[in-house]
This record gives sequence, C-alpha cells and structure tokens, in this order.
Amino acid sequence: MAANSIGKEFVVTFFGESHGRCVAVIVDGCPAGLPLSEQDIQVELNRRIPPQPKIVSARIEKDIVEIFSGVFNGFTTGAPICALVWNKEAISADYDKIKDTPRPGHADYTARIRYGSFNDYRGGGRFSGRVTAAFVMAGAIAKKLLSLFNVEVLAYARAIGDVKLDRTLTVEEIRGKRYETAVRCPDLECAEAMEMAILKIRSEGDSIGGIVECIALNVPTGIGEPIFDSLDADIAKMLFDVPAVKGVEFGAGFKAAQLKGSENNDAYVIRNERIVALKNNAGGVLGGVSSGMPIVVRAAIKPTSSISSEQRTVDLSRMEETTIQVKGRHDPCIVPKAVAVVESAVAIVLADHMIRAGIMPKILKERK
Ligand SMILES: Cc1cc2nc3c(=O)[nH]c(=O)nc-3n(C[C@H](O)[C@H](O)[C@H](O)COP(=O)(O)O)c2cc1C
Repeated sequence: MAANSIGKEFVVTFFGESHGRCVAVIVDGCPAGLPLSEQDIQVELNRRIPPQPKIVSARIEKDIVEIFSGVFNGFTTGAPICALVWNKEAISADYDKIKDTPRPGHADYTARIRYGSFNDYRGGGRFSGRVTAAFVMAGAIAKKLLSLFNVEVLAYARAIGDVKLDRTLTVEEIRGKRYETAVRCPDLECAEAMEMAILKIRSEGDSIGGIVECIALNVPTGIGEPIFDSLDADIAKMLFDVPAVKGVEFGAGFKAAQLKGSENNDAYVIRNERIVALKNNAGGVLGGVSSGMPIVVRAAIKPTSSISSEQRTVDLSRMEETTIQVKGRHDPCIVPKAVAVVESAVAIVLADHMIRAGIMPKILKERK
C-alpha cells in the first residue's frame, strides 16, 4: 500500500486503520514558525462529528488529538509533524461474521482481491471513513497556515437526498452558520428538512447521499502547476481520495456543457484597480491556475453502502450466492461528517500549491 502520501512541498502521509490502534498523519514540509497547538487541531476534529447522535453512526470516538513531533514552544519547527488519535470504540466482532461476504458498495470485495487474506477487513480497515480523521488533522494545520495569508476554506452541505438548498448563501452565512446545524447546512430551514430526510431513511434501514460545496476565498491569482499538477486536477484528486466521493465539479461544472461560450465565459472588468470576473462559471481556476476568483468546488457523496436492509452478495469462502444484512454502526448519511473532510482536503492542496508557488516561505517569521 505504498500510496499513502500526497503533496510535493506540504506532504501529508496518513496511517492507521478503522480497528487498528490509531489513525494518524505526518505532515512534512510545514513551514517553521506557525503557531500550533493540539487545541487548533481539536477544534477541527470536533467539527467532523455532528453533535446529533441520531443522524450519525453509534460509534462515536472522542478523538482527542496528540501531537508527537514537529512543534516546539508552541511553534512548528519545520520538522515532520505527527498528529494522532487513538481508536477506542472499535467492536471487531461485528465484522468477523461478514469477512467472507463483502458488503455491496463498500470496498470489502476490491480490498480482498487487492490484498488477499492479509486484508484488515475489520470496520473496512484502511478503507473506512474513520481514516478521514487524518484528513482533518492535516487540514487543520493547512487551514491555520492559509489563514496567515488570509485564505479561507469553507464547506457546507448543499444537498442531502432530495432536499436541495435552492438559494445563494452569503459568505457570512456560510462562515458563521455551517457548523451550527447537525447536517452542516447554514440555512436553518433547509437543515431541518435534511435532518428529517436522514432520520426517515435511517428508520427504513437505508441510506442517502448528497452534495458538499466548498469555497476557497482570497486564493492568490496564479497558483497551480499545469499540465499534470493543475490546481483543479490536484483538488479533484484529493477529493476523490475521500471515501464515498463519486463526483467533483468546479463552478458551473457539468452544466457548462449545455451553455454557449457567450454564457459560460466570465467577462473581466477592473474594480478597485484589480482585474476581476463578473461571474465565476470557471469556479476560480482557468488552465489549471487560480484566477483570483473564489474557488468553488462541489463533491457528490454517495449513499452509505452499509445498510441494514437485506442485500445480495457472495460467500467468497464457498463461492455461493447468499444475502447480507450489515450490522455494525454506520452513518445513514455521510454528508454531515464529510463537510469537515472536504474542507480539509481542499486546504491541504492549497497549502501545498502556495508553498510551491513561493507565496509561503519555509520560515514564516524569525523568533527573537
Ligand atoms: C466521513 C466518512 C464516514 C464514512 N462512514 C461510513 C460508514 O459508516 N459506513 C459505510 O459503509 N461507509 C462509510 N463511509 C464510506 C466508505 O468508507 C466508502 O464508501 C468505501 O471506502 C468505499 O469507497 P468508495 O465509496 O470511495 O468507492 C464513510 C466515508 C466518509 C468520508
């Protein structure tokens, strides 16, 4: 499994499994001089788990972060930062019964083919949503770094099941209210409808998906390394690495395919001596390079594959068709947890590209 690191300058390496001892991250390349405490990471980790127990899995890990290296006297030193949360709530017996009967829609079958009988199937192992705690720990460091340069990354739930937010939100609403509702939608009325949709689907033993939108503000114009490290390509890759993400679009996205050039093009004007576009169908990236407009990206999250209703599968040990009812503790909808993960994923890529573009120095500020 030698593919657990991402980034060229701000390099993050994830390790840990759902039912192993821990989930952890090593961030290598974080500039020296960033004020960083465990509390900075803890705030973001807390955002990953919505406070409403009825809409999330019954496995609630406290996820108290510990920093093991790379921070001295409250500042990053430039050395690798290792941050870790322990797994304390795993119940592996739920999985022994189904180790030979892959859950449809999860990675059980592909993991078994890829790693044979050595695969750690407990709780989805390396393929579990639990591993996204590592995204959030690295993302917390990236976000703190970006904030020094006024760059802000904000994600929220745009749709859950067939409940869709049908109005444009202000930045203030997104910034101030996205983590105030359990479903992570800043519109309180829409959030209530989303929550009802999750409770309903849970009572039916089924699951639903949705859409997370993420905006990144004040990203400097001109970051991104075409051709193969385009900013949009790198963000899309990072988002597709988040389990359950099945689609990514920027700006007008797939709708652009139906527009005329005259409709899709974002005309330029000068405002306050700055070149800006009148609208943002490009989603803040042109030619793989940031345009100075907000980066707007949406991730489609599939319905949780582990559902309690009966499904057809195959018993791999006997090569016989059978059925499965997934017990375990699962989220009826992944979207509320995915919001903090998407925010983190985008922040990690932006931090990497800002260092690569020379906008972030290797030493942020000399201490006297
Ligand atoms: C935050 C988060 C939590 C998740 N929780 C669950 C879960 O409780 N049950 C489940 O079946 N899948 C869950 N997933 C999704 C699976 O990990 C994912 O569907 C699986 O690894 C297969 O990968 P794929 O959907 O990207 O193809 C979660 C994903 C995320 C991002």
